[in-house]
Amino acid sequence: MPKTETVILRELLAREGGWVSGTALAAKLGVSRVAVWQHMERLRAAGFAFEAVRARGYRISARPATLHAPLLEALLRVRTRGFTLQVLDEVDSTNDEVARQLAAGRPAPFAVLARRQTRGKGRLGRVWHSESPVSLYASLGFRPEVEPGRMQTFTLWMGLNLCELLANFTGVEPGIKWPNDIMFGDRKAGGLLTEARIDADRISDLILGIGLNVNPPPRGWPAELASRATTLAEASGQTVDLNRLAAALVGRVLLAYDAFRENRHRDTFGDLWARFDTLRGRTVTLLEGGRRHTGEVRGVDDEGALLLQEGRGPLRRFRAGEVTFEKKPPA
Ligand code: BTN
Repeated sequence: MPKTETVILRELLAREGGWVSGTALAAKLGVSRVAVWQHMERLRAAGFAFEAVRARGYRISARPATLHAPLLEALLRVRTRGFTLQVLDEVDSTNDEVARQLAAGRPAPFAVLARRQTRGKGRLGRVWHSESPVSLYASLGFRPEVEPGRMQTFTLWMGLNLCELLANFTGVEPGIKWPNDIMFGDRKAGGLLTEARIDADRISDLILGIGLNVNPPPRGWPAELASRATTLAEASGQTVDLNRLAAALVGRVLLAYDAFRENRHRDTFGDLWARFDTLRGRTVTLLEGGRRHTGEVRGVDDEGALLLQEGRGPLRRFRAGEVTFEKKPPA
């Protein structure tokens, strides 16, 4: 059952720019007009603004700039049976929260989003800067029961879906830097962190965490990120509607998950990889377990491993590692 405020917002959004009468809302919800008014007040307190005109009703004139659960639900186009989402004001890490909730038996799939993380995690044990309430910190929990070998492809597939969504959303083409960085040019706009619990050779709990720099952080970037990070707003030249983006992203991840479970991702994976891969043909250094490998990238294999041609040696595959670009020699 959707929450009352989700229903109100759905009605108002369906006629965006138009009016919805308090009487119509009250009838739809089966509550009094006073009760409708009380919900509108709560929505105002959460950052909405409404015009209210006697004999016409209400219409939305402003939406919150930070995540708002009923609005997200109202904007979500994809209907997955039993799917639920939660927006937290603050959490240690949405990935850790999803892991705890999966362990406690919450029915999957579900999503946890937060306005702020106190211990946001990146890949390879790094810290993910999570101080900005106008960025996106989201994790989805699944119980796929597939073999662990498929996890790497899962992350790449989700990264490709994220890139296509962002290309449509911003009108600017992003790229993936293997295995999990979302880039605009040579700056990072986001990343994915997949974690899993494996039982008896099956992935029982799967957590997909997505961090995206959406609008400029109100307090700016920490010095170490200033020259490396970017936001979707910067890439597209426009402020991004965070709730609309988050709803589109959650919907896209749910569809991409179904395709992955049913092995349909194979139909488009190659084309999408060719479109968004930022590494193919470039000379890079891969740091793996303390060793450096320099060579030309030749794409990825079926399991999502990076293919690297080191000089005249054999083509080598790497399942993990950190890629850095070799500086181009002066012309
Ligand atoms: C990376 O690029 O290293 C991956 C970054 C992933 C960050 C997201 S933010 C939401 C989720 N919760 C976390 O603690 N990490 C992921």
